[in-house]
Amino acid sequence: MIIIKTPEEIEKMKVAGKVLSDVHHELRNFIKPGVKTIEIDRFVEKYLKKRGAFPEQKGYEGYPYSICSSVNDEICHGFPSEYELKNGDIVTIDMVVNVDGWLADSAWSYEVGEVSEEAKKLLKTTREAMYKGIEKAVIGNRLGDIGHAIQSYVEPKGYSVVREFVGHGIGREMHEDPQVLHYGKPGRGIRITEGMVFTVEPMINAGAHDLTIDDNGWTARTKDGSLSAQYEHQIAITKDGPVIITDQGDC
Ligand code: MF3
Ligand code: CO
Repeated sequence: MIIIKTPEEIEKMKVAGKVLSDVHHELRNFIKPGVKTIEIDRFVEKYLKKRGAFPEQKGYEGYPYSICSSVNDEICHGFPSEYELKNGDIVTIDMVVNVDGWLADSAWSYEVGEVSEEAKKLLKTTREAMYKGIEKAVIGNRLGDIGHAIQSYVEPKGYSVVREFVGHGIGREMHEDPQVLHYGKPGRGIRITEGMVFTVEPMINAGAHDLTIDDNGWTARTKDGSLSAQYEHQIAITKDGPVIITDQGDC
């Protein structure tokens, strides 16, 4: 069942969204060669506390950390660790912020120091693909229009769309209906209506879309060892089009 949100509820999620976009702004400076991913986790947790917010992922279905930090071939749900980021790495930081019971969810891929042209292109294409999907999130369209926009943008570039993880409705719960696939056919799927709030969060691999899960039971990585990137925004469907709840203002 899709829980439609009122304009007042959307405003409450925007409060969480502002905290989350501010975190990502902070991370632009914090992430650099030599930083351990566990240090990013601690930094985020402290920052959220200062802002009166709570890291919703911690303890969610047993997930042990405040953020997911997924490096290079890791697709998502990477565990923060003693791993020291090195020049040329890419790292995706994903988190869900809770302010007064309302949630905001956004993931962003970062360059660590100077990265290869190949990595730069993957990040740029993945970010653009997310926005292509968001553009289609208008009243009257169908969810398949979003998935198709993303898939048809990345595949001609030789990239692939991860199938196992999808966007989702969100509000007071992290995962609500509907599921938002990042691939699909135009004109298919659930019709998009006013007051829906969901994420668009394509995970794009430089190689094939197949994945494996680590022994920790969470971390997904590309089977062929290729790089993977992800950008995620949370959006609200309004009469004026999609409103990005986790907007960072300048990218
Ligand atoms: N933020 C993720 C999403 O987009 C969820 C992370 S899974 C968790 O759905 F269990 F770690 F929270
Ligand atoms: Co997320």
